[in-house]
Amino acid sequence: EKNGYKYFMLKEIFEQPRTIEDTFRGRIYSDEGRIYIEEVKLKEEYIKNMSNIYIVACGTSYHSGLVSKFLFESFAKIPAEVDIASEFRYRDVILDEKTLVVAISQSGETADTLAALRLAKSKGCQTLAVCNVVGSSISREAMHVIYTHCGPEIGVASTKAFTGQVTALYILALDWACKRKTLTIRELKKYLKELWEIPLKINKFLKNSQSVYDIAKVFANKRGFLYLGRHINYPVALEGALKIKEISYIHAEGYAAGEMKHGPIALIDKSMPIVAIVVKGKIYEKIISNIEEVKARGGTIIAVADQSDKEIGNKSDYVIYIPETDEFVSPLMTVIPLQLLAYYISVILGCDVDQPRNLAKSVTVE
Ligand code: M6R
Repeated sequence: EKNGYKYFMLKEIFEQPRTIEDTFRGRIYSDEGRIYIEEVKLKEEYIKNMSNIYIVACGTSYHSGLVSKFLFESFAKIPAEVDIASEFRYRDVILDEKTLVVAISQSGETADTLAALRLAKSKGCQTLAVCNVVGSSISREAMHVIYTHCGPEIGVASTKAFTGQVTALYILALDWACKRKTLTIRELKKYLKELWEIPLKINKFLKNSQSVYDIAKVFANKRGFLYLGRHINYPVALEGALKIKEISYIHAEGYAAGEMKHGPIALIDKSMPIVAIVVKGKIYEKIISNIEEVKARGGTIIAVADQSDKEIGNKSDYVIYIPETDEFVSPLMTVIPLQLLAYYISVILGCDVDQPRNLAKSVTVE
């Protein structure tokens, strides 16, 4: 069942070029700039008039929700908020029938996410689930569902579900942008093409990922890690930190790099490895200056950067080079080395990669 891989997690990491493609195939036509999501039957009128989106989820699914906030705002110009399902359900959230509530869940059985969805329904909202398991509770409870086509995810640490969710949310945001006329057809084609090229780029990286193992060997015995990202890669920093906590039992925190000087920079010393996501885009220069601040305090920087980046080698201690992508699609690429880094560290430390202590694959109780 593991197809020769030592652990399900590694198999699932390597499956991602295919599971991402399976999630967009038949739904996008990049040459024509057309998107067709058969299952989502939200009326065009509703999409044009919706006032805001609330995204609810837990864990890794919450992180893909955070990525999608940028997509709904930038592509479709819809105000979007993201909430942890267990928080959302106990707040007095202001909801009405013009609010769309999106629940994201791999298993479709997470108790808090299901409860958040029921609450939204009782307030008269439209509800949509992004789900991997067909016929699961969340997919049945929601008014609309878009399935990720990832196949069963066995490893407790979620990998291919994250990239499947981001893919599904990316095409939803583009579809709604199209209907709301907030992107030109040229932009739409460009973003579809960027997505289309992702599986190839991930494959290319995975074939050449030795550098991640070498870095894992150097840092496996550290007591803590910081993960820095900004903009659409800030949620990826959170996800990288979650992966390492979960399967290596090493403390890690994800931060928006601009927050460093508001406290966490005090943690920096020679023993602190900092993983920084520094892909080209709107905030490239900003994150570079954040890295310089950290370096000046003796921290060790492991940068995840574009292959074409000629500067980054001088500014960091280690670089994991990845194929260049547009920033809006980049989380699908940047998360891959972070998944692998957590995986290798876990293996080196002799942890139970697929079944980490104290954790269950789906959390069906509150
Ligand atoms: O099945 P769900 O997507 O609803 O699960 C949500 C979380 O429990 C899940 O993502 C968890 O955080 C993973 N173990 C993370 O790797």
